[in-house]
Amino acid sequence: MKLPDFPWDSLAEAKATAAAHPGGIVDLSVGTPVDPTPELIQRALQGASDAHGYPQVWGTPDLREAIAAWFARRRGATYVDPDGVLPTIGSKELVAWLPTLLGLGPGDEVGFPAVAYPTYDVGARLAGATPRPAQGLLEYGPKAPKLLWLNTPSNPTGAVLGLEHLKKVVAWARQHGVIVASDECYAELSWTSDEPTPSLLDDRVTGGDPTGLLAVYSMSKQSNLAGYRAAFVAGDPALVKQLVEIRKHAGMMVPWPVQRALLAAVGDDEHVAVQKSRYADRRTTLRTALEAAGWRIEHSDAGLYLWTTREEPCRDSVAALAQQGILVAPGDFYGAAGQRHVRIALTASDERIAAAAERLRA
Ligand SMILES: Cc1ncc(COP(=O)(O)O)c(C=O)c1O
Repeated sequence: MKLPDFPWDSLAEAKATAAAHPGGIVDLSVGTPVDPTPELIQRALQGASDAHGYPQVWGTPDLREAIAAWFARRRGATYVDPDGVLPTIGSKELVAWLPTLLGLGPGDEVGFPAVAYPTYDVGARLAGATPRPAQGLLEYGPKAPKLLWLNTPSNPTGAVLGLEHLKKVVAWARQHGVIVASDECYAELSWTSDEPTPSLLDDRVTGGDPTGLLAVYSMSKQSNLAGYRAAFVAGDPALVKQLVEIRKHAGMMVPWPVQRALLAAVGDDEHVAVQKSRYADRRTTLRTALEAAGWRIEHSDAGLYLWTTREEPCRDSVAALAQQGILVAPGDFYGAAGQRHVRIALTASDERIAAAAERLRA
């Protein structure tokens, strides 16, 4: 099995250039949260530090019920059955292992967007299946993939799939016997509405029937707890049961203190609103400065990134910004279709974002 080279290794030179800036580097190349984990979540973790027994792979019933309630409250999904919910060790592991856990292998195909988070491709390869990136469903023609990944809001582009689009995908998937998994971890960070972006499990999309559908969600970004590794998958109870069975054998379980922290996090919307407003300010500062400096921003309607172009090869854009002490991710990390864009993350302190804006204006 051939896995791609780890893409960030190719940024070493640009990183050294940016680090040599007299005002220090502004690293906007990764989406790692920089603000503190909210107190109520830290307290929940601390309160569960006596964890002498093994945790439940499937998650405790109260956690699964709280996640189902969160889907009803925040995602317009009132049919999520707590039996169809499973906590995961962050969502990257689920993305990387889902094809394997679903029993896919050689000869099977895994579909995902042409410009995408690299782990969909990695997951297909780990299973021995074939990665099949595509710009749209029509590209699949008569041979549909076994599993189709959606990512809304998208990393890296920030594009959001609307309800009508999601409904069409579900109708197509049901016609072709395709499992759809929708990775939705930036849903709360929507910039064009006060509401979260639509979910694959929204009642208006599923019509109350989650068969063949999974939504993948992570607390890493919205709740500043990427270090906890706290996420979940929900949807079709039969598929989730299959995942639980294998994960029991493989010891893939979320530690008990993290399950308790996750329970506290999904029950509280206030800290998410506070974090969203921090990112909104950083986004406005950065966006205004980039546009004034001649950069064009596409999509970026939600999520933690500005998908930006100066109509030149992305590596030239990375090098130019590195000269200003700003490190960003080249669009070609996310597929060949991204080769004229760069992805600029909002995940830096107010002070660093202000420094980047000042340098862009200079
Ligand atoms: C689209 C997408 N999915 C999944 C993840 C993984 O998040 P985590 O493993 O922290 O839950 C990320 C992280 O950047 C992401 O951008």
